[in-house]
Amino acid sequence: MSLTVVRDKVLACKSCGLRETCRAPVPGAADVLAGGARYRVYPTTNTPPRIVLIGEAPGEREDDDGQPFVGASGQVLTSWLVRAGNPDVYITNTVKCRPPSNRQPTVDEKAACRPHLDRELEAIKPRVIVCFGRHAALSMLRLFNKSTGMKRLVEMSTLPYDEAGQWMQVAARMTRAKVLVAYHPSYYLQSGRRPEVATACVDVLKRAIELAEEPA
Ligand code: URA
Repeated sequence: MSLTVVRDKVLACKSCGLRETCRAPVPGAADVLAGGARYRVYPTTNTPPRIVLIGEAPGEREDDDGQPFVGASGQVLTSWLVRAGNPDVYITNTVKCRPPSNRQPTVDEKAACRPHLDRELEAIKPRVIVCFGRHAALSMLRLFNKSTGMKRLVEMSTLPYDEAGQWMQVAARMTRAKVLVAYHPSYYLQSGRRPEVATACVDVLKRAIELAEEPA
């Protein structure tokens, strides 16, 4: 299925109650470097990015604009991408509609939205998936549960992949992508903009670039 069809399915979706309270669903978008600046490409370029970034859910700005990560978290994410070396990426979320008052998405909402994420990954066939925050990590990694600390996941994400690979397994049915975990940009913003949090995330993105460039 092409990403255009995947996007149309997102836009037409009424699988959970979030569609009743959000302005509009927010499908994924490619975010690429062209002529020295980063651009959003919708739904994606001719050559889909090898790296997919998964966030939690659209916030207010994303709900207004219909694009992922365009608010304060998006500015942080862009700064991390620039520091990491400006990779082309495709950005999406575990749920495509904004939860009311930016509350966390429920298990049922994430399950209802999961087919969209699976279709995006099937269409793109990324080499690497970077999960931003616990919601994305929990939905992509088989071997983790709620008690696994984010710090450990982020540290594991910069180990040589053979060492970390046993842990970092993606749900087998979808993709053979390697899965890494970074802190969510909103965690960085809400926990005092600590430089070490940003550096850890930039290191994960650098690792994603290395893994994406390895021979298949
Ligand atoms: N936070 C997310 O997780 N996703 C967005 O698109 C924006 C903010």
